[in-house]
Amino acid sequence: MIDSKPILFSAVQPSGQLTLGNYIGTIRHWSKMQDDYECLYCIADLHALTTLNNQTFLNESILDTIALYLACGIDPNKSIIFIQSHVVQHCQLNWILNCFSNFSELFRMTQFKSKKNNNTINQTNLGIFTYPILMAADILLYQTNFVPVGKDQKQHLELVRDIANRFNFIYNGIFTVPVPLIHKYGSKIMSLLEPKKKMSKSDKNQNNTIFLLDTEESILLKIKNAITDSEKPAKIYYDIEKKSGISNLLDILSAITNKKISCLEKELEGMRYSEFKNILAITLCNFLSKIKDSYLYYRNNTVYLKEVAYNGSIQARLKADLTLNKIYSKLKFLTIS
Ligand code: TYM
Repeated sequence: MIDSKPILFSAVQPSGQLTLGNYIGTIRHWSKMQDDYECLYCIADLHALTTLNNQTFLNESILDTIALYLACGIDPNKSIIFIQSHVVQHCQLNWILNCFSNFSELFRMTQFKSKKNNNTINQTNLGIFTYPILMAADILLYQTNFVPVGKDQKQHLELVRDIANRFNFIYNGIFTVPVPLIHKYGSKIMSLLEPKKKMSKSDKNQNNTIFLLDTEESILLKIKNAITDSEKPAKIYYDIEKKSGISNLLDILSAITNKKISCLEKELEGMRYSEFKNILAITLCNFLSKIKDSYLYYRNNTVYLKEVAYNGSIQARLKADLTLNKIYSKLKFLTIS
């Protein structure tokens, strides 16, 4: 039977704990798409090598991430959950795409540019430079139609589309050109203390970031200390430029309550910032405690988590092979069967 559902692919690096930014920017949308799309949700462990200091804990982080995917509603009977390094075709396609990408394209990537500007380029590993091509391999391998991601991945997705179009032009069409799905609100959750900067799991100041598994005390404190502004009289409305702190908190509340920003602005009208923060902190604690309970349930069953990943990798490999075989044939590699 031919599966006619559009294909959807997304991934998260298992480098440390997942953040509220990861959840709001992308993972929260995943479970809703499982019925209408053929979904592949990957744990990008090869990508994690670019930033890990101590790789000993990678195996634990991978299991944590699978458990969190499940806790966030990803159903292995509906979606393929798999670990990137278990599907060797990602690396095979990566090499091929390396040979169809230009130095100058990678130099333009903001993440790499920031290393260059910080003068840390000499200590930067090559993976940081080339990982957008591995991302292209991840996505193109499955003939992906849609890629739900946060705003920080927009530039990478543009590169993926360029590579796909280039390859298609030379070889007369082989890849589906993927479309990024980036939502208007919540696609860039900002740091709590520096709301002009993206919330990130690698932030040195942990008070900038809410982790999905943070304790209740920690969440209450982090929200309480979040930066707002000094507008007098204090007013709660969405304006990213003028009120980046408040807008970020509104984005978070909107994502976890499923209420529109305009509706929240009305509900919160006339409130003090401290009252707003209080509502947000309690709502967030309740919301995350459900994810955490479910996470703990799955995380205690390592055998099941491994089974999910094992089954997922078998399904992913079959699909990946279909694309890779077509490419090998287009490239005129010699096949002996
Ligand atoms: P990673 O692990 O940095 O982030 C995973 C997803 O979370 C989103 N995200 C955010 N969204 C909103 N606000 C934030 N503060 C925030 N922080 C992170 C990211 O946009 C992303 O969607 N290279 C990728 C992983 C990857 C991938 C792929 C993604 C590998 N292959 C193929 C999509 C398709 C990464 O490092 O994401």
